[in-house]
Amino acid sequence: MSVANFHLLLLASYCILMLRGCLSLNLNLSCEGHLVALFVFGDSLYDPGNNNYINTTTEFQANFWPYGISYFNPPTGRFSDGRLIPDFIAEYAKLPLIPTYLDPKNNEFVHGANFASGGAGALVESNAGFAVDLKTQLEYFGDLEKQFRQSLGDEKTDQLLSDAVYLFSCGGNDYLSHVGNNDSILYPYTHKQYVGMVIGNVTDVFKGIHEKGGRKFGITTIAPLACWPSVRAGRPGNTCNEELEIITNLHNQKLSEKLKELEKQLEGFKYSLFDLNTEVSNRMNNPSKYGFKIGDSACCGSGPFGGIYSCGGKRGIKEFHLCDNASEYFFFDSNHNTEVASRQYAELYWNGESSVTAAYNLKTLFEGKGSSALGREEL
Ligand SMILES: *[C@@H]1O[C@H](CO)[C@@H](O)[C@H](O)[C@H]1NC(C)=O
Ligand SMILES: *[C@@H]1O[C@H](CO)[C@@H](O)[C@H](O)[C@H]1NC(C)=O
Ligand SMILES: *[C@@H]1O[C@H](CO)[C@@H](O)[C@H](O)[C@H]1NC(C)=O
Ligand SMILES: *[C@@H]1O[C@H](CO)[C@@H](O)[C@H](O)[C@H]1NC(C)=O
Ligand SMILES: *[C@@H]1O[C@H](CO)[C@@H](O)[C@H](O)[C@H]1NC(C)=O
Repeated sequence: MSVANFHLLLLASYCILMLRGCLSLNLNLSCEGHLVALFVFGDSLYDPGNNNYINTTTEFQANFWPYGISYFNPPTGRFSDGRLIPDFIAEYAKLPLIPTYLDPKNNEFVHGANFASGGAGALVESNAGFAVDLKTQLEYFGDLEKQFRQSLGDEKTDQLLSDAVYLFSCGGNDYLSHVGNNDSILYPYTHKQYVGMVIGNVTDVFKGIHEKGGRKFGITTIAPLACWPSVRAGRPGNTCNEELEIITNLHNQKLSEKLKELEKQLEGFKYSLFDLNTEVSNRMNNPSKYGFKIGDSACCGSGPFGGIYSCGGKRGIKEFHLCDNASEYFFFDSNHNTEVASRQYAELYWNGESSVTAAYNLKTLFEGKGSSALGREEL
């Protein structure tokens, strides 16, 4: 064997190593383009700074100090002291940070795009005019699909979209935006009707992505918002909001049922449901077990539990308190977790057991092939 051939062989083996789990090998000696892409949708839990580029208010933005203090300088717009769940998932998947779709500096999306927008709900009415709702996020994804078809051609686009993982955080704002109205927070809807609409709209977006070739979906249950610092701070006696607890539990139950239904209904549909609700409850109830000193109060904010949404002093209230070490806290501001918490979630979402992440964890989704259309391997 000639030296040149030997090097080729080495290079080829290297590629094969890089592509573990990627069975439809295209041995052109460039491993690039074979990474599984990550598309992100949803609300402030996943927004990497899209809201910096829309006409909204500082209530729906976090691109100012002290947001980002643990990791990003300058702040990116993430509602945290550092990275969010999708940032860690991208790292696990060997992807770069997933680009913020609305940032005009970004125009390369073969590794995915992040469309999430702080304040967004599954319903267009939730914070309408201040956030990019889920339907519009799906439209942006449609624009991107057209661009891919033009630049990569249909075959590569189909492969990219069917191999990709689609990560969602949504629903919380559909319920939170009603808190404070009156005793029946979803009036005039019953809980069942309203939850039905929220899940119905999430389902529509899943179906929209499935029609374009998407197969692998990741979503979380909604956190126990009833005891969020922001919710408690607004209530007499700083109690948790029992109605909100009932509604979020109903949402989580219906979401789980819907996903099982979709798995039967939609060809090739695979999902990963991470039980964020349980993981958050565990940490709020027993912070020290997870390495936190404080589990119920925000590092950055004011009022009881740091529950007044004043972090950064740019949302109408100038005074706020900032803790010395965000890593000791579970909540960074009154509505959002610290980076340490997001890192813990991401680890469980990535390779947790089926009691935490079902039917598959994200690692399995990333490694499996998305489509049977070309006779490629199924999960
Ligand atoms: C190899 O594949 C990459 C990614 O699909 C592509 O950009 C590149 O042009 C290909 N090179 C050749 C020589 O085909
Ligand atoms: C942004 O929103 C404000 C208030 O709703 C409005 O007065 C302003 O014209 C909007 N600006 C743009 C560029 O749309
Ligand atoms: C809740 O508020 C609506 C108007 O926002 C009102 O019509 C309704 O009667 C109120 N319900 C209760 C239980 O107070
Ligand atoms: C989606 O939400 C709208 C309200 O924004 C509602 O009218 C509609 O029925 C919902 N769709 C589904 C399928 O539930
Ligand atoms: C902040 O807290 C974390 C977790 O308790 C600890 O590991 C770290 O050393 C602390 N950092 C500083 C600067 O004290």
